[in-house]
Amino acid sequence: MTSDGSVGEIDPHELANQDFLDEVHSFQFWFDSVEGYLSERPYGRAETTADIELDDDRRERLITTLCNYCVGEAAALEGASGLVQLAPDHNSKIFMATQVVDEARHLEVFLHRLRELGVTNPDLEIERRAQPALVDFKGALLELVAHGDWQAAVFAQNVILETMEYTVFRLHRANADPVTAEVLGGVISDERRHAGFGESDLGRSLSIDPSGRVRLGQVKQQLDTMVLGVFEAALDEVGATDGPSQLAREYLHTVERLGFT
Ligand SMILES: [Fe+2]
Ligand SMILES: [Fe+2]
Repeated sequence: MTSDGSVGEIDPHELANQDFLDEVHSFQFWFDSVEGYLSERPYGRAETTADIELDDDRRERLITTLCNYCVGEAAALEGASGLVQLAPDHNSKIFMATQVVDEARHLEVFLHRLRELGVTNPDLEIERRAQPALVDFKGALLELVAHGDWQAAVFAQNVILETMEYTVFRLHRANADPVTAEVLGGVISDERRHAGFGESDLGRSLSIDPSGRVRLGQVKQQLDTMVLGVFEAALDEVGATDGPSQLAREYLHTVERLGFT
């Protein structure tokens, strides 16, 4: 596959690689992955998992955090749906379609959790509590998609946003009440696939054509601090005291693997 998405001469090594990509980017792979943790868990939680009473302060902080998670999920939902059209090959389109489904589910389970916590109008509450930097990030991501910039949009969405969500949700889960922890568990498994796609897609395209590295470095500089600050604050809100430094460390490792410092 060339950087413009056209298929050149295929060698056996490439073919093996392509077979692998066809397999892991399929709906079949997606279904086999989600079946284990979504079956019999309406809205991401088993009916047998009991909710605990949260004091007012903890409940308030959880609501703020979930409202901001909803902004991130809505960004990824809209971003991934636009990326279906931009994807340079069929298996990337199919993968993005699975991601659209995942992100819609994440948004749905977080909205449902907000209602369980007593929020009667989640949309209004999200508007009220959303961190402006995360709303700006969403706008910047959707602008990259609107400009047809697959590589930069995948970097913003599947590397910057997904790597941070994957880490933040894991750190939050360790500190969360049982129901929120269970909901986060399913979401984490999905985010891991999304972050994996971003790293593998960009790793391949940058190894073929490293010239994109400079431009992605600029996208990184412009966008990563927006999201990092918001998620560090979210970890503080949920009482994950070592969270902010761990988040920065894990994000740094991911971008270093892609050749960014
Ligand atoms: Fe998500
Ligand atoms: Fe995701």
